[in-house]
Amino acid sequence: MAKRDIIIAPDPRLKKTCITVDTIDGETATLMTDMLETMYAAPGVGLAAPQVGVHKRIIVVDPARGKETPNPHLIANPVIVWSSDETKVHEEGCLSLPLYYEDVTRPDRIRLQYLDENNAERELEADGFFSVVIQHEMDHLDGVLFVDYVSSIKRSMILRKLKKTKKQMAQESD
Ligand code: NI
Repeated sequence: MAKRDIIIAPDPRLKKTCITVDTIDGETATLMTDMLETMYAAPGVGLAAPQVGVHKRIIVVDPARGKETPNPHLIANPVIVWSSDETKVHEEGCLSLPLYYEDVTRPDRIRLQYLDENNAERELEADGFFSVVIQHEMDHLDGVLFVDYVSSIKRSMILRKLKKTKKQMAQESD
């Protein structure tokens, strides 16, 4: 496994729509395990392929927190086949928007179909925090960031500040 660099917003690579994966070959399986390592190192609870610059419909999530047993899910081509009418509000963050957190409203429960790392078709049901993480990561596959759910004034403020921070970091590393 190898850690990859996480792209920080604003960046056009985070706004692209990703393509469906045909089959989980060796290259894709390596990408999945690299993403998992990158996510754990960050540390984070979810990561989508475009965040490491790969525009394929792949996400990794692990909703386990604190001392809970690790519960990694390596997911390709996720499709939500059912979602509850009931919604919940959660405060979300993102490894591509470090240090910013905003409330986002989403369906509380979902049923998901996907391909796992062994190319097997799987289905899972998720609610609460796990459901939020999956939906957040799936948004990345269509170029959607959690700040796209907040007001445009707030969004441009956050992205402007991140742009400034990135510029400063680039200068410091020169
Ligand atoms: Ni994110």
